[in-house]
Amino acid sequence: MSTSTPLASRRAETDAPLITPLVERWSPRAYDPSAEIDPEVVRTILEAARWAPSANNAQPWRFIVARRGTDAFATVHDALNGWNQAWADSAALLIVNLAEVVDPDGRPRRWARYDLGQAVAHLTIQAQHEGLHTHQMGGFDGARLRDAFGLDEHLEAVSVTAIGVLGDADVLPEPLREREVAPRRRRPLDELVLAGA
Ligand SMILES: Cc1cc2nc3c(=O)[nH]c(=O)nc-3n(C[C@H](O)[C@H](O)[C@H](O)COP(=O)(O)O)c2cc1C
Repeated sequence: MSTSTPLASRRAETDAPLITPLVERWSPRAYDPSAEIDPEVVRTILEAARWAPSANNAQPWRFIVARRGTDAFATVHDALNGWNQAWADSAALLIVNLAEVVDPDGRPRRWARYDLGQAVAHLTIQAQHEGLHTHQMGGFDGARLRDAFGLDEHLEAVSVTAIGVLGDADVLPEPLREREVAPRRRRPLDELVLAGA
């Protein structure tokens, strides 16, 4: 694994103390193209998603897990937008995050995407705890994934997560390399809390 990425510049500069995976999580585009993830670790991060809270405990999340080097990985990678394809090929895993937006009785599940987001957040933090990094993507062709995987009409591909071991930022083309090492920014907390602070 490369150590040339200046990790320090990517740590969150927090205004209050946070647990380590939250401080150290960020979304890289440079992954070690030779690193693989142990199947037990893949199971662990999916288990983290499984134990997320959801409205009425509906658990409306589903996942397509594609390991680099497989046909499934090539299919998911082909469905990404060009700017994501440019870097996501070196991730060890691509996970398609699906929401079951309609229940078995045909009723819309109002909170399905919200619940899926929480499950992906759980997975992300567990992955960080396991020494991995994640990068979520909204830039992909959902219709293409639907056709390729024969997805049920009740399912909607909401995002794709690249997961892997951090790689060398210097292999990225500009301007991706520059973004990879730039300080991370957030709005101040007092801008986010509208009342009750
Ligand atoms: C729903 C969602 C969609 C995103 N889509 C993309 C994407 O298509 N391509 C990309 O490079 N990053 C994408 N990102 C990553 C964000 O740009 C990134 O999380 C944000 O800039 C904050 O950076 P950080 O995760 O390093 O803190 C997405 C993130 C989320 C949560």
